[in-house]
Amino acid sequence: MHRLPPVSSMPYRRILTGVSMALAFLLPASLHAADAREIARTVCAACHGVDGNSSEPANPKLAGMDQEYLMRQLKAFAEGKRRDDTMSAIIASLDSGDFAKLATYYGSQKPTPGTVRDPQLAAKGLALFEDGNTDSGVPACAGCHQSDGQGNARFPRLAGQHQAYVLKQLADYKSGRRATDPLMTTVGKRLSIDEARALAEYIAGL
Ligand code: HEC
Ligand code: HEC
Repeated sequence: MHRLPPVSSMPYRRILTGVSMALAFLLPASLHAADAREIARTVCAACHGVDGNSSEPANPKLAGMDQEYLMRQLKAFAEGKRRDDTMSAIIASLDSGDFAKLATYYGSQKPTPGTVRDPQLAAKGLALFEDGNTDSGVPACAGCHQSDGQGNARFPRLAGQHQAYVLKQLADYKSGRRATDPLMTTVGKRLSIDEARALAEYIAGL
């Protein structure tokens, strides 16, 4: 039976080295030369939508979010303070000089509204969002993210965000998988899963 030579043998090595060199040459160079819109269209749009309004509930809407916030998150993925296999791999292929351009691009896009599916659950979320839970020490979200969920330069916009994405972030703060902010880690730890569900439902309708 014919057997393939081991990968370490010369011809294979030469081919592999050639391929990775071509990639190393082509990928960062072409991304670097492109403007933010072009990167957004070719690299990010499949998951976040061309204008940053993703239709897939697991992928966050980026449109209209504060630029500083978006930049911090891209850096957090690059530094491993925030972990997501997909995002980390994508960020690794970008030039960090492009982070600011991408953040500006998405920050200036118009956000689309979200959809509330369970108004009763959203009503429970409203109470928590405005007043928190004094028994468990959950602070009022509105105190930082604003009553309309629009946020500001310090606190990110939440309004209209997908339920599934918000729920995952609250769980990630709680578990420590997302270690970007000690305040939100505390908030995550104090929230029950039912409270988090109610909040995510309410936030979608803001
Ligand atoms: C294959 C899907 C996919 C692609 C392509 C992708 N992302 Fe993401 N992105 C995600 C997911 C999923 C998350 C949420 C990760 C998590 O749960 O922490 C995310 C999170 C983010 C966040 C954090 C948002 C927030 O509200 O904190 C930013 C910023 C971001 N992506 C920017 C980009 C940019 C810029 C590109 C293109 C260069 C890109 N993404 C490409 C799937 C993707
Ligand atoms: C003391 C201020 C403060 C309070 C109170 C607060 N947050 Fe936050 N929140 C922040 C900050 C700051 C960030 C950004 C942290 C980071 O960089 O990860 C954030 C991030 C988030 C995110 C991630 C957004 C994204 O796009 O990934 C969610 C979701 C969130 N907060 C929900 C809530 C909810 C729900 C409450 C109320 C139970 C709440 N927050 C209360 C300050 C606050």
